Amino acid sequence: MVRSAGCASIHEGDCAPWPKLESRIMKRIRLALFLSGSVTQHSLGSWRHPLSASQHNRSPWDRVPFWLDIARSAERGGYDLIFFSDSNGMNLGHADRHDDAVRYAAQAPRLDPLQILPAMAAVTSRIGLAATQSVLAVPPFVGARAWATLDHLSGGRAGWNVVAGYLKSEGQNLGYDDLLAHDERYAYAGEYIEVCNRLWQSWDEDAIVSDTAGSTFADPTKVREINFAGKWFRSRGPAQVHRSPQGRPLIIQAGQSPAGRAFGAQNADVIFAICRSAAQMKSFRDDMRKRAVEAGRDPDRIKILFGMQPIVGETDEIARQKAAFHQSLVPLEAGIFYLSGHLGVDLSGEDPDRPLRAIDVPGVQGILDAYADTSGDGAALTVGEAAQRHAGSVGFPQVVGSPERVARWMLDMMEEAGGDGFMISPIHLPGSADEFGNLVIPILEREAGRSALDLAGPTLRERMMEE
Ligand SMILES: Cc1cc2nc3c(=O)[nH]c(=O)nc-3n(C[C@H](O)[C@H](O)[C@H](O)COP(=O)(O)O)c2cc1C
Repeated sequence: MVRSAGCASIHEGDCAPWPKLESRIMKRIRLALFLSGSVTQHSLGSWRHPLSASQHNRSPWDRVPFWLDIARSAERGGYDLIFFSDSNGMNLGHADRHDDAVRYAAQAPRLDPLQILPAMAAVTSRIGLAATQSVLAVPPFVGARAWATLDHLSGGRAGWNVVAGYLKSEGQNLGYDDLLAHDERYAYAGEYIEVCNRLWQSWDEDAIVSDTAGSTFADPTKVREINFAGKWFRSRGPAQVHRSPQGRPLIIQAGQSPAGRAFGAQNADVIFAICRSAAQMKSFRDDMRKRAVEAGRDPDRIKILFGMQPIVGETDEIARQKAAFHQSLVPLEAGIFYLSGHLGVDLSGEDPDRPLRAIDVPGVQGILDAYADTSGDGAALTVGEAAQRHAGSVGFPQVVGSPERVARWMLDMMEEAGGDGFMISPIHLPGSADEFGNLVIPILEREAGRSALDLAGPTLRERMMEE
């Protein structure tokens, strides 16, 4: 009998004493470190936290050494992947203005993660290096080149989170009056990836012959034009960059609507999801596996990672105090603005005690589903509760406790729900990411088998797929 899912979360109330961990054979748990190239991570309290390195001048967040320290310690700590979220626009909230985004540092200001990752590649040798880039940002030819370049520079460790934009400000910043309709965005992204795939394959693996005597660097018969002409894109090719170590970057995707899931089943190697309970995780995973088969793919080649925000203390009591302190750094008004912007509705005039699920929202489906879910604690959240949590963890379940308790929650989730691992959202940087690496990852390695350091695969894709 598996312990009730979600019990370790501070949001679900106090937990009974935890049984001693027992070894059991499980498949490997993959771990991504979820970052934003900003002063604030995925908690609006993070920049205010006294342990954030960005709070003092020893290591400013907008200088290279800050990010290099994080890359080195994430690799040492046993994470499989560093992953940056990103957007080309601010969350404008309900006021349709940038005021709250900059006041609360809601991922604003934000550096371009594609310029951070090559620096991280230079000081690491194993960890995956992934970031989000919108298909609205650059033409596919330019995008394909950037990702192939990172894959070369990192020796096959690049990962691209493909997004089609969901913030209105992003479209407006990039010169569009509005975003495409929801499902059409995924069709657009699908055509974009198709162009990229063709470009990435436009150089054969053995095209470079480097025949100095014969004066031939690359065999022209092994490099082709693609002459793509679709509904939205045209590109002649060949690619400007030769075939990269992985052939194409690890493709990552997060989107939980039916169209988002269909896109992921078709294209993704790794899918990120926000679920608050084991039941929700299981239902998402079962659905994705079914969709993978329908798309003609091996479901084991699509790895699903669930978001979580661990708050680890030496004891449960210390962890609870840390969680309460962290939450005190997150003003409710910040949560109302932040959630309004992500859902695409104005929650500022809502009664904070009204259940969130009663509101019709056209926005980010996964976030709403997580808050409206009743399988974790039996009650859908109110607007106020959801706003507070959103500002603290962008909807990720917060898992609070001793290292053993947090590890047990993860093992239980994997056992009950299935899935392939977690996306770890630190409450401040670098300390909270390190704490998880130092205290929890060793327990997971002991209890659930292989460490990230033991994996054989030289490329990120091989390592992520290895059981
Ligand atoms: C865990 C997670 C992380 C996401 N990260 C980003 C991001 O960094 N940038 C972005 O533009 N969208 C991001 N999104 C939004 C998705 O790409 C997508 O637009 C959104 O989930 C709505 O899709 P859906 O309606 O299919 O659920 C993220 C979504 C989730 C669930």
